[in-house]
Amino acid sequence: MALLVTGGTGFVGRRFIENSNENYIGAVSRNPIKARQRLGDAVTEVVGWDPTASQFQGPAGVHFDKVVNLMGESIAEGRWTAAKKKLIRDSRVLGTRNLIDGLLASGKPPSVFVSASAIGIYGDPGEAIVDETHALDENFAASVCQEWEEEANRLTDHGTRVVCLRIGIVLGDGGGAIEKMLPVFKLGLGGKLGSGKQWMSWAHVDDISGMITWALGNPDVSGPINATAPNPVRNAEFTRTLARAVNRPAFLPAPKFALRMVFGEFANSLFFSQRIVPKVALDQGYEFKYPNLAEAIADVV
Ligand SMILES: NC(=O)c1ccc[n+]([C@@H]2O[C@H](COP(=O)([O-])OP(=O)(O)OC[C@H]3O[C@@H](n4cnc5c(N)ncnc54)[C@H](OP(=O)(O)O)[C@@H]3O)[C@@H](O)[C@H]2O)c1
Repeated sequence: MALLVTGGTGFVGRRFIENSNENYIGAVSRNPIKARQRLGDAVTEVVGWDPTASQFQGPAGVHFDKVVNLMGESIAEGRWTAAKKKLIRDSRVLGTRNLIDGLLASGKPPSVFVSASAIGIYGDPGEAIVDETHALDENFAASVCQEWEEEANRLTDHGTRVVCLRIGIVLGDGGGAIEKMLPVFKLGLGGKLGSGKQWMSWAHVDDISGMITWALGNPDVSGPINATAPNPVRNAEFTRTLARAVNRPAFLPAPKFALRMVFGEFANSLFFSQRIVPKVALDQGYEFKYPNLAEAIADVV
């Protein structure tokens, strides 16, 4: 049975593909030559496709019974101009719509569709402990996540089991937040953000990869799943743990106005307090490889 992965060239996608035991993996990319170089023999086939330009069309004669949907314009690179925000939204919402329209047009929808979403869907819930039943926010990122999940959920009408992983801050080597933070911390210039009291909900990339595999293979899993480690930490603790792991001090707090100058609107979300817990995953038996931050960071650095 064939598996299709979108965003397979990305930080999470590469690790998932590397860890996957599937016999036939098709990877979608806007740049198939670069994708083949990056993914090598780990994938059976690379399908060239721009998700925002046209409906997905798979290779003739291949039925993708499992689909993992990880594509999306980076939210952490570049200022959030109107054009950037359109790309952030279109690459997820329109991209997922075009993917699903293509899968439906093939006449045989997949039996399972695991899509990325993000904990940004909850906005800034402060001190509240947030499981999958918590109210959703209306800010830009939260609205994009809601529309993204709605597109994915269209497949449930066609008998597909749909799982939306609300992913937290992914920690791992080769990408994500740590890749940006590590050089600063190694220079001893790291520091908490603002008061440092805000909660951060993180997950090791091997657990995101593990949760995707678990969701694909477990027929009882469906709907939204918080993809975060069971032990979120305050930003000050995150900062201390990372500084300790690289044997450097971290006493320069980063003020919000400076980050806003660099990142624009995205900087606001760095100050959100998100104490998200993976209730559904724990209730349904997912076993975390990295439940605690210190071990996750030690592995990464
Ligand atoms: N990393 C995190 O901390 C985190 C947290 C929450 C949610 N997520 C979500 O999880 C998914 C995977 O994350 P990631 O960190 O692996 O992302 P990533 O490294 O940025 O990779 C995303 C992939 O999406 C494709 N892509 C990028 N821009 C695109 C565009 N404008 N239009 C269409 N496709 C585009 C790219 O594939 P090609 O260039 O090959 O086409 C890229 O490899 C994303 O949807 C992300 O929003 C990640």
